[in-house]
Amino acid sequence: MSKVSVHYDKVADDYDNHYDASNGRDYYSHICDGVISALPKDGKLLDIGCGTGLFMQRYLKTGREAIGIDISQGMIRRAKTRKVSDVALGTAEVLPFRNESFDAVSSLLAFSYFQHPESMLEESFRVLKPGGSLSICTLGRNIFTSMVPAAYRIGEKLNVKRVGMAYFSEHYYKEEEIKKLLEDVGFVDTNVFRRSFAHVDLRPSVYYLSKKMEPFIESRMPYLAFNLCASGRKPEKKE
Ligand SMILES: C[S@@+](CC[C@H](N)C(=O)[O-])C[C@H]1O[C@@H](n2cnc3c(N)ncnc32)[C@H](O)[C@@H]1O
Repeated sequence: MSKVSVHYDKVADDYDNHYDASNGRDYYSHICDGVISALPKDGKLLDIGCGTGLFMQRYLKTGREAIGIDISQGMIRRAKTRKVSDVALGTAEVLPFRNESFDAVSSLLAFSYFQHPESMLEESFRVLKPGGSLSICTLGRNIFTSMVPAAYRIGEKLNVKRVGMAYFSEHYYKEEEIKKLLEDVGFVDTNVFRRSFAHVDLRPSVYYLSKKMEPFIESRMPYLAFNLCASGRKPEKKE
């Protein structure tokens, strides 16, 4: 078992308190809107690193079809309790699905964990139908996130039980880096933008202030925003 799956098995029951309550829900909705904006209006979606199914549940509400995959048994179990039943245990780097079987692939707050991001992207490209879209959101590299690994190492040493609080050799991306990864695999019409300044882990009063500043930061000072939304399309087959 990997360190990431052991961690998420442990925090699975607390996960929704973090991302599906008060500020967490607000933060998560903002990210979801960014991801959904790059997905097709209908068709079948694969959500990679689906966790407790927070994104899938929103997606399914719009009448569309979705399947999820995650390496943590605990997160999969939680997803099933929220009636997101089409979820499977598995890793992003080797997808157990046939070629060209999905219209869309999403992945939220998981990409930074993937030790072989090229493999996840190649696999996503393989399972997408021609014309299908990939849309992901992951922590980007900025002045704040560059301090996160050190904080997580300390949290791990102190045995803090908190979602994401451990050192996993996570990688936080820059815009041009993630764009190149997508294009190297063959995605076209790639688009990358920064999202979210009010971070879920901020204290409520600071969160409130950051939320007020968020539109300005995202449009004028995007390098200070925390997450990166990246999307691309698998080209149609040539005649
Ligand atoms: C922060 S949670 C995000 C969960 C969900 N996408 C969401 O938006 O709430 C990260 C998830 O990625 C999963 N994960 C990490 N590495 C993975 C991998 N290589 N393959 C599949 N899932 C992975 C973890 O088990 C965890 O459920």
